[in-house]
Amino acid sequence: MDVREALRALEDATRRGLDEVLAATSLEDVERAEKSALGRKGPVAEVQRMLGTLPEDDRRTLGRAVNEAFETLRTAAAERSASLRGDVERGIVERDRVDVTLPGRRPARGTLHPMTQTERHVLDALFGLGYRLMDAPEIDSDWYVFESLNIPPDHPARTMQDTLYPVTPGRPDLVLRTHTSNVQVRAMEALEPPIYVVTLGRCFRRDVPDSTHSPVFDQAEILAVDEGLSLADMRGTLEAFARAVFGPEQRIRLRPGYFPFVEPGAEVDVSCFVCGGTGCGVCEEGWIEILGAGMVHPRVLRAGGVDPERYTGFAAGLGMDRVAMLRHAIPDIRLLYEGDLRMLHQFARSA
Ligand code: DAH
Repeated sequence: MDVREALRALEDATRRGLDEVLAATSLEDVERAEKSALGRKGPVAEVQRMLGTLPEDDRRTLGRAVNEAFETLRTAAAERSASLRGDVERGIVERDRVDVTLPGRRPARGTLHPMTQTERHVLDALFGLGYRLMDAPEIDSDWYVFESLNIPPDHPARTMQDTLYPVTPGRPDLVLRTHTSNVQVRAMEALEPPIYVVTLGRCFRRDVPDSTHSPVFDQAEILAVDEGLSLADMRGTLEAFARAVFGPEQRIRLRPGYFPFVEPGAEVDVSCFVCGGTGCGVCEEGWIEILGAGMVHPRVLRAGGVDPERYTGFAAGLGMDRVAMLRHAIPDIRLLYEGDLRMLHQFARSA
């Protein structure tokens, strides 16, 4: 092999080596290509070996060419390896890719308590009938809770309700209201007739808790005071109310009842929305008692500063827990006040 042949051999080896390096698809392939071109048994090493036998000039020319071949192939191999490593890194990125198109994990949202849902429903019905909301205190004086409602201290009706008394220095007259009827005289004092108000809220009685009694419970109270209001107005209002809350097919029934603050007084039943009136486990022979009502007693009107010769009124009191239990088939009143999430999650509705 003379110098010219040797140079051509180097050129060939370099070109073949470059082709192989560029075609490599793995780091091992690159290494193999580099070794076969530049290894001890490879073509470049062969030329290198003959350098010693050449005259000075040729040796320099060929030596430079050998160095260039080494240089070219090593650089190409290093670049190819770097690029393949990049591919590997991209592969890892690809494998670990997070698919953000999937629906995410939603944060847990709170929902409205079945009592709140029922309250909104009841208020909606009454607002539709032209009533406005009025608040009355949960801790109120004996006057508004009893006395002004024609329930004097020695009246036997007081024994109907076991009152809880808060200990408030200097205010021995305060009681935890046993019903929402304390709104009645307060409304008459605050407003001029015509008065159409509804109040909602907590009431308290010294009851032992069982499936139908809770010492804390919720009532709604309706009061209407206007000229010429009659029992027929009361009946029509309560029927419209019952239909809005329980369903458009419902009928109501009035039975005589006694409450000191109304005359006449009535217990009001709604036709059973479960069996439609034939009788079932929820109702009594097709009727469900839902509220107490009556024409406001003249003494109560007078206590509120309203002239009973000019105005008449009707009032009704409704057990909100009972309505919620009926609407949602909740078997035990305590479930409404215990805040057990297992029960509340069954009423997941946010409006
Ligand atoms: N306050 C009564 C109770 O708690 C319910 C009631 C009955 C309210 C008759 C009224 C009514 O306004 O007219 O049992």
